Amino acid sequence: MTYIDLHTHITWNVDDGIETKEDSLKALEMAKKDGIDSLALTPHFIPGRFKQDDYDEITEVMQECVDLAKTVGVQAYMGSELFLNEDYLDMVDQHLFHSINQTKYLLVEYDVRKDMNQNDSEEDKLYELIIRGYIPVIAHVERYFHSKMDISRVKEWIEMGCVIQVNRTSLLGLNGKKVKENAIQLIENNLAHVLSTDTHRIEGNRICRMSDAYEFLKENYGKKNADLLCFGNANHILNSEDVEKSEVVVQKSLFSRLFKRR
Ligand SMILES: [Fe+2]
Repeated sequence: MTYIDLHTHITWNVDDGIETKEDSLKALEMAKKDGIDSLALTPHFIPGRFKQDDYDEITEVMQECVDLAKTVGVQAYMGSELFLNEDYLDMVDQHLFHSINQTKYLLVEYDVRKDMNQNDSEEDKLYELIIRGYIPVIAHVERYFHSKMDISRVKEWIEMGCVIQVNRTSLLGLNGKKVKENAIQLIENNLAHVLSTDTHRIEGNRICRMSDAYEFLKENYGKKNADLLCFGNANHILNSEDVEKSEVVVQKSLFSRLFKRR
């Protein structure tokens, strides 16, 4: 099986991800061995802190990382994870970011420390990107809802035109029970489009591996849905095509089996 990973912090020494070129190489080798043939480099781009010089510097390292990936047979693409803070539109209007493989798809993240249940005006930020012609790929949506997974809110984001990304670690329960519960609810409601690693390290939980999450998806939701989440939709994004909705049919909900058992 071949996978595509659209969310990684593998570019060395540019954010809180991998720190050295040696470790980047190890992460890329790990990815290749696991079946990840293509991936996007998505360093954190923090609006307000970045100037043109920072952008140029990071882009140079990213290009080196693309070249390094080639040496182990991995195709890496440029990208960024744009933090949706108060200054994000300045950064967008100054073009100090990379969309995924220069498509209209742009990986964005909200502050995971804030509970989305308490913030009801965050949609404006997505809207501003959409009217500028971008398609927001919202990173690790399962991590924003601290008290209750708001399914209708996520449906609204999709109706606006956004794409929903879920992290491997969340699905596998490595970020706690609540986050896993949220990830499963997104998948069982056919609201998740893409599963990614959000790789930050070469050991521990946040590593560049998709096979375990793929097997979990295949076992619980069937091969077709697992393929779509771990390859198909990411491939559509890299090629500027529309994403597809998954077709999970829940007979015995994993969510109720795992979280509602008495
Ligand atoms: Fe990330």
